[in-house]
Amino acid sequence: MKLFDVYPLMDVTPVRGEGAYLYDNAGTKYLDMYGGHAVISVGHSHPYYVEAIEKQLRQIGFYSNSVKIPIQVELAEKLGELSGYNDYHLFLCNSGAEANENALKLASFKNGRKKILSFRKSFHGRTSLAVAATDDKSICAPINASEEVVFLQWNNSEALQQSFSDDVCAVIIEGIQGVGGVHIPDAEFLTQLSKLCKQHGAVLILDEIQSGYGRSGQFFAHQFAAIQPDIITVAKGMGNGFPVAGVLIHPSFEARYGLLGTTFGGNHLACAAAVAVLDIIKEENLMQNASALGHYLIEQLKSIPQVKEVRGLGLMIGIEMNEPIAGLRNKMLQDYHIFTGTSSHKNVMRILPPLCINHSQADYFLESFSTTIKQIT
Ligand SMILES: Cc1ncc(COP(=O)(O)O)c(C=O)c1O
Repeated sequence: MKLFDVYPLMDVTPVRGEGAYLYDNAGTKYLDMYGGHAVISVGHSHPYYVEAIEKQLRQIGFYSNSVKIPIQVELAEKLGELSGYNDYHLFLCNSGAEANENALKLASFKNGRKKILSFRKSFHGRTSLAVAATDDKSICAPINASEEVVFLQWNNSEALQQSFSDDVCAVIIEGIQGVGGVHIPDAEFLTQLSKLCKQHGAVLILDEIQSGYGRSGQFFAHQFAAIQPDIITVAKGMGNGFPVAGVLIHPSFEARYGLLGTTFGGNHLACAAAVAVLDIIKEENLMQNASALGHYLIEQLKSIPQVKEVRGLGLMIGIEMNEPIAGLRNKMLQDYHIFTGTSSHKNVMRILPPLCINHSQADYFLESFSTTIKQIT
């Protein structure tokens, strides 16, 4: 059997990871400024994380959600404490799309409505409702296109005001738009959005799947604004590569048996990985590191004349150039062994390194970036 060929691949085969570095099958070392698409939060194969998973596996790796699983409670408590959302409830699942799918279902269960407001250039996943709420027709199959979704202009208060009515079920918005090219919502825009949702009985869903878990320098990117969403979705950095995701739910939502469910979600191993991630983020002050290193990178990048615009918060950075970044990206991989990310905008490079990168790694990236631009322009 062959693999279903849906991914354009870099010509690299990583076989080992350590912190912000990867090593390929020939022993070549790479600096990971992409974090496996914002997934690597605490660093590759962090010893505490590896030990926690190993220890858990030796005891019990999985049992279904039909028995007590105390490590789920530990995860919920630690997540509540570190994120500041102690009074919310946690539903555990396996991927970002699944988290958004459940969030949208919960919204509709609550107010009985169907209409979703989403934003231009948004990305929320590839399953039915999540992809319907994603602004990319090329990945939306005809079977998904029937959902009632309206795409609004980013940061446009007037358009937002005009689109609201009492039939809106939910608004879904990324804490920082990632795939779309790194776009930050204005704090006032988020405040207005939150007020309109309350006025019209709509549910506000903050998709923090890419921007959450400390990447922005705050636990959640939306915490730069004074809002409290009804639902927050998390995945990527939550497990540092172990598939785990979550839905943080305001206490006004009533649970009942069978309302949501999953076979694998919240299994012992996934929880052990997720608890270890939270412990490391706290112990190693990774949010502060993301904030400081992100600020440094953004300021330095802004001073490079060939760069058109730099957008970002913490270690979620979009570098917009005047031309496509494909050549620049390949050359940085070939000549300097640095992984970087793309976006749906061909001129925007995305930088999403592990939250543990240090100054000398940031400087290596900056020097390699500047030299490569000079060589190709
Ligand atoms: C903001 C956002 N939401 C949802 C998803 C979907 O997550 P997953 O690929 O785990 O389903 C992604 C993935 O890139 C994302 O960036």
